Amino acid sequence: MGENIELLQAQAHIWKYAFKYINSMCLKCIVELGIPDIIHNHGQPMSLSQLVEALHIKPSKAQCLNRLMRLLLHSGFFAQTQSGFFSLTPPSKLLLTQNHKTIFDIKPVLILTLSPLMMAPWQTMSNWLCSQDDDQQDHRYSTAFEMANGKSIWDYVIQEEESCGFGKLFHQTLVCDSQLIGKVVTSECGEMFEGLTSLVDVGGGVGAMAKAIVEAFPHITCIVLDLPQVVANQKPQQPIQNLNFIGGDMFVKIPPANAALLKSILHDWNDEECIQILKNCKDAIPSRAEGGKVIIIEMVLDEKERDKESIETQLCCDVLMMTAFNGRERNEKEWKSLFLAAGFSDYNIIPILGLRSLIEVYPY
Ligand SMILES: C[S@@+](CC[C@H](N)C(=O)[O-])C[C@H]1O[C@@H](n2cnc3c(N)ncnc32)[C@H](O)[C@@H]1O
Repeated sequence: MGENIELLQAQAHIWKYAFKYINSMCLKCIVELGIPDIIHNHGQPMSLSQLVEALHIKPSKAQCLNRLMRLLLHSGFFAQTQSGFFSLTPPSKLLLTQNHKTIFDIKPVLILTLSPLMMAPWQTMSNWLCSQDDDQQDHRYSTAFEMANGKSIWDYVIQEEESCGFGKLFHQTLVCDSQLIGKVVTSECGEMFEGLTSLVDVGGGVGAMAKAIVEAFPHITCIVLDLPQVVANQKPQQPIQNLNFIGGDMFVKIPPANAALLKSILHDWNDEECIQILKNCKDAIPSRAEGGKVIIIEMVLDEKERDKESIETQLCCDVLMMTAFNGRERNEKEWKSLFLAAGFSDYNIIPILGLRSLIEVYPY
């Protein structure tokens, strides 16, 4: 009997992982249908029949919607009143369309991660792993993403006209993230910006994080450095006070400032490339005694301190970075060796951003 129980448990474990993608795809479906917005705009919990009516779903398919909602209720995206009406939970509130300042919309990350271009590499992962590309000089052009889609993710991000909106969605995802993280960082970590009069946001995209910083600390002037094509395509139409954009290459030169910010940058690159970026940051900032520092916003993998679910999400992000960029997420030991190799003296990790941390890195 014991042997059979073990066999059935093993089967259930495999089923669980074989079917896990269904949670993601159902979540994408309810977002595409706009269900969180419909419940929010209704102003109170909604019954299934009210949802069916709002979505113009045929009565014969009402039971299908019910089963979809049952799964998402189970995974915590909706709650249900005693009379069976559906209401929003904190995660589904983050899926609302951003219609005023207090709502942070993180839908784009879901749409981007589950887009056909991002899903394609998973179908060819084993081929990519076994492919013989060791003689490839520039690893940036040998990702699983490129093998599946014919071009690197950066090519898609840069070539706006040919990317069918991928570049726009990529930046939109990061803008939404930076709005949320910008709010937390500026309200919880104000002391980190004390004494600074200038900051360069390296790979700062369309400037959402820099905008949050100049709005919270108007005495700081921010420079956003990004690829020339990104700056040309994505720069805000209206100038923002104390915020300047520079097109350039962080592997070549970073404009001087009191501090350099690297948000979601280093996990896109291998160790050698990270050391080069960090060395260029070091050249751009003054000494520690003069207040120079690098501020990094990234994950710190920590299997001892975190719960099982957070560890799994961090490990999934690590594999995602490998697939999309040949990048990686890092633990404290790995971060420390990058900082020392780039010539920094010390660092401080502040685990204040949920799955991610703030890391202050100090030069000599
Ligand atoms: C993952 S995004 C992060 C954007 C932004 N820091 C954020 O968190 O919202 C990486 C950014 O690095 C930029 N980038 C890539 N290669 C670069 C380079 N060589 N020099 C400057 N920026 C670069 C990309 O265009 C993109 O905006």
